[in-house]
Amino acid sequence: MTDTDDPTRTPELELRGIGKEFRSRSGSTHALSDIKLSIDRREFVSVIGRSGCGKTTLLRVIAGLTGPTSGEVVIGGRSLWRGKKVDSEVAGRFGVVFQDANLFPWYTVLDNIALPLTLRGTDRARRHARAAELAELVGLGGFERSYPRELSGGMRQRVAIARALSYQPKVLLMDEPFGALDAMTRERMNLELQRIAQTTEATVVFVTHDITEAVFLSDRVVHLSPRPGRIRQVRGVDIPRPRDRDAQSEPEFQRIVRELRHALDEEG
Ligand SMILES: Nc1ncnc2c1ncn2[C@@H]1O[C@H](COP(=O)(O)OP(=O)(O)OP(=O)(O)O)[C@@H](O)[C@H]1O
Ligand SMILES: [Mg+2]
Repeated sequence: MTDTDDPTRTPELELRGIGKEFRSRSGSTHALSDIKLSIDRREFVSVIGRSGCGKTTLLRVIAGLTGPTSGEVVIGGRSLWRGKKVDSEVAGRFGVVFQDANLFPWYTVLDNIALPLTLRGTDRARRHARAAELAELVGLGGFERSYPRELSGGMRQRVAIARALSYQPKVLLMDEPFGALDAMTRERMNLELQRIAQTTEATVVFVTHDITEAVFLSDRVVHLSPRPGRIRQVRGVDIPRPRDRDAQSEPEFQRIVRELRHALDEEG
């Protein structure tokens, strides 16, 4: 499953032996080791693993926010890094959503969503039309003129997702985007995200602590071992879409969750 050399596939995203070591005066931390993974277009892949196993680091390496110590990130057949520099055209294919929505408090929902387009010089009329369309897509129609402080946590996360989608990224990278939400809102957001991912046809890499969430959303779940993070297993989730809440009570769903939970428990 971690093949990178099947010539018949054209993966959207390839991780070719990613290693990452943080060095400082107080010593070094080996965060990731030899991560090999090939992700197809429109695939939804989750990354799970213990706290500190390198999930965020992996996402940051994929996003081009920090360089790998070894290995290569290849997007649509093109290398992300050119020496020590990120190929900005390749990095421009990503939308990134982190745990905090990170909205600008003095911008409306619409202007927050449109921010990446503003930075890219899209004119006001076009970026507002696009932002309004996205507000609708993430279920925020009617809140375009609201400010972040007037929204709930789940709504703010939806603004962040809409913002990440604004320039039609091929790849959406998400680091525990629903970690701060209550269980019910989180479940709703999972349904929303599934719908959004299908509508936009984005390839998604999604980091979470939550095994049920990972299985619910994913085509494959990647389990990273504790430091240094290595791929311990890649579990396919062959459950038809769209999945609804009832999918979670199906035997196949529960079997996969149980299997992953046991594998994580074994790590002590
Ligand atoms: N900038 C950094 N400098 C030094 N060490 C770092 C840095 N970022 C992460 N690390 C170390 O790398 C390891 C992996 O961290 P990372 O944040 O990727 O884990 P994680 O799996 O995302 O954890 P969590 O589930 O708690 O979010 C940790 O040991 C951490 O201390
Ligand atoms: Mg993390």
